[in-house]
Amino acid sequence: MREGTVTLIRREDYLAPAFWIRSVDLSFDLDPAKTLVTSKMRIERNTAVAHGPLCLHGEELNVLRVLIDGESVSFRQDGDLLLIDKAPDADFLLEIRNTCAPEKNTALSGLYTSGGSFFTQCEAEGFRRITFFLDRPDVMAVYTVTLRADKAKYPVLLSNGNLLESGELDNGRHFAKWHDPFPKPSYLFALVAGDLVAREQKVRTRAGRDHLLQVFVRRGDLEKTEHAMNSLIASMVWDEARFNLPLDLERFMVVGVSDFNMGAMENKGLNIFNTSALLASPATATDADFSRIESIVAHEYFHNWTGNRVTCRDWFQLSLKEGLTVFRDQEFSMDMAATPSARAVCRIQDVRQLRATQFPEDSGAMAHPVRPDSYAEINNFYTATVYEKGSEVVRMYQTLVGRAGFEAGMKLYFERHDGQAVTCDDFAQAIADANPGSALATRLEAFKRWYSQAGTPRVRARGVYDELARTYTLTLAQSNPASPGQEHKLPQVIPVALGLLGAEGQALPLQLQGETEAAGLERVLVLDQAEQRFVFINVAVAPVPSLLRGFSAPVLLDDGLSDAELLVLLQHDADAFNRWEASQRLALNRILAAVRSGQALQLDTAYLEAMRAVLKHAGLDAAFKELALTLPGEAYIAEQLEVVDPQAIHAAVEAAQIQLAAALREDWIATFEANSHTGAYSPDPVSSGRRALANLALGMLVLDAKAQSRADAGVWLGRAYQRFKDAGNMTDRLGALAALVNGHAELAEPALAKFHAQFKGDPLVIDKWFALQARAAEQGGRVFAKVRQLLQHPDFSLKNPNRARSLIFSLCMFNPAAFHRADAAGYVFWADQLLALDAINPQVAGRLARVMDRWTTLAEPYRSAALEAIRRVATKPDLSNDVREIIERALA
Ligand code: PHE
Ligand code: ZN
Repeated sequence: MREGTVTLIRREDYLAPAFWIRSVDLSFDLDPAKTLVTSKMRIERNTAVAHGPLCLHGEELNVLRVLIDGESVSFRQDGDLLLIDKAPDADFLLEIRNTCAPEKNTALSGLYTSGGSFFTQCEAEGFRRITFFLDRPDVMAVYTVTLRADKAKYPVLLSNGNLLESGELDNGRHFAKWHDPFPKPSYLFALVAGDLVAREQKVRTRAGRDHLLQVFVRRGDLEKTEHAMNSLIASMVWDEARFNLPLDLERFMVVGVSDFNMGAMENKGLNIFNTSALLASPATATDADFSRIESIVAHEYFHNWTGNRVTCRDWFQLSLKEGLTVFRDQEFSMDMAATPSARAVCRIQDVRQLRATQFPEDSGAMAHPVRPDSYAEINNFYTATVYEKGSEVVRMYQTLVGRAGFEAGMKLYFERHDGQAVTCDDFAQAIADANPGSALATRLEAFKRWYSQAGTPRVRARGVYDELARTYTLTLAQSNPASPGQEHKLPQVIPVALGLLGAEGQALPLQLQGETEAAGLERVLVLDQAEQRFVFINVAVAPVPSLLRGFSAPVLLDDGLSDAELLVLLQHDADAFNRWEASQRLALNRILAAVRSGQALQLDTAYLEAMRAVLKHAGLDAAFKELALTLPGEAYIAEQLEVVDPQAIHAAVEAAQIQLAAALREDWIATFEANSHTGAYSPDPVSSGRRALANLALGMLVLDAKAQSRADAGVWLGRAYQRFKDAGNMTDRLGALAALVNGHAELAEPALAKFHAQFKGDPLVIDKWFALQARAAEQGGRVFAKVRQLLQHPDFSLKNPNRARSLIFSLCMFNPAAFHRADAAGYVFWADQLLALDAINPQVAGRLARVMDRWTTLAEPYRSAALEAIRRVATKPDLSNDVREIIERALA
């Protein structure tokens, strides 16, 4: 940590390591205050690289001794490096002894303690906080690990791979020795020691091998691991069935920890999870939690192949494993969803997430390509772009080569690269080579611009129907605005899945000029020029185009469709994603018109009747209805505007909500009655869709009761409170509580108090209690005042990342109306909390710093006030590298 500007690491400067570490024998004498680490490494010079010193990474370590082949050797330390100038040319054994201080490690990177147990987090560069090493992903070693610790306090001792032996030692201590046969980069190392219990399950794979699955948690949490175990088994079955990828270890362990910077980590054979991504019971977790757990368990499991067996050459290639693994977990969730409609719901949720997080990132100060060109702190690049946009890029490969072609590409990727550390180019090449002549292979270099160009491409689509010639000419044009460091962009390869509908909604056959017959009712056009025309022939009637079906590319589409055309799509499109998209566009157009004109929003009958029809439709799933009737997010709305006034956006959304609540009141009542009883809890898509819709309806009814001061207002407020009290599961309980809190009902306070008393022993539920209040619909500054008050609550702590996120991130990131205040108090709050957090945990602070990414687009007075807060942070001399990089980019 130091003052001044950050130092950038550049992708183009990549050099292979000067040495290889082939194997490492680690032993740990675990003690919270001072842990002793002994590391014996078999090292060999990389003859392909010029001679030079052996240069190892090490941070906040205390070195005790350094031996080469048993003899002490001179070394020097320079900042976070340990250098040995006289390393032998022949293979040698390097032994290093050092100590570290786990209980002082509040950064939660390296070896740390949580709730009296030991855990590690090594990605990206945490291993160097445990011992000296070539801590980079292209150095892959075979690990043997011996753990020694007090047996009473730490009865369970875990590390990667297989248990070789364990036994007793003197002084009440014991040991366990683990061996992982697969060479791996240091970021995949893990150890756990503590008083934990496990849910166990033996499984046999299709290949006929037996495995032991274990989920370790603290005593008392065991009943909350069933869903995670089921998700793990389902993931194993799916990866074998879909990609032919079996589990390669006898034992697969998952461990929960309550202090964790991210969701979870794919350490080889020993995944470590934030408890928020692992523990669930119907009484304490919502449907959203259940589905998040399923996808994160799957995600980490899938990393075993996409990440661990084939890893990244350097951290610029992070999306090689993350984009691909997100794609795999999204596909898994869709395949688990069973019905076409439930699949579409998955897709809609993923796209909503992309638009809410990645689109703003891609147009802000931190915009970067899926494969970044430089970074100061790699922790800042675990982003929506690398993950979610990276996944969309992988999806486009599949769209271009087909599902079978993509599976063939994956097969070739593993044939070529199993056991290697490779690049995004290697992945692209494997998919293309497995599909010669495909729309991908013939455009591979242009396709790879998705990795090198930042920014969300805009696609403009305009169609002209010629009644006489019976042709429909569709002109597609693309552009991509400048990003930091990228003034001009080249055209990208954009797959546009489409169908054409007649005015009555019938699907029209698709025949392009030059083709002898129509090729189905849906096809994929490939836009790879700045502008292209596609002429459809034998088109019987003027069509309504349904473009970018299933969101076939991560772009902003301007299709110029009229309300009448959007209504045709909303009613008839065979693509459920585009039906939903039409609902959002109808709302978006109205909200944007109000915000742009500065006039109060007034919803028209056409829109309200369309929404009523969706709500009453007998053939639509509850989950779909809930998504269609939920208004677009405020961040996505902001994305469409040159100048952003968060209060104006919020006012328009609020007005739309109140009018939707009032106009459809009878339908909301009917909807609530029809969906409010889902019977014995199961997190399946059908019943969770019904719960989501019932919660939306209840929220609308409470909002309406308050907004219209209806004579019978008490009825719905009372029913919400009753439902809150009597709920049989957390989804219903939290939904009812949210209705009361967002409606600023008098009963909200007693309900919150009751909720807190009931769940005070369960930190994950108390996180929800904080988050609900910090995300509540702002009304006259009440929410902001409440958050400030909650900072003083005895349960609040900045040290636990989940708790910090539940209160501070909820306000600053997810509650624009409460955060962006004309008096700048929100920004002052942000700066204060950011500085406090940075002294504890730079990684988490780096995320909070991102809140100001888009300050330049803010309207006054927000813009100037935001700048002042950012500058105040920038003047702090001892900022972490993490926060300094974000702040410098914001000010660039
Ligand atoms: N690699 C983890 C994942 O996506 C994320 C992670 C990154 C966790 C860094 C901890 C630290 O699955
Ligand atoms: Zn991942």
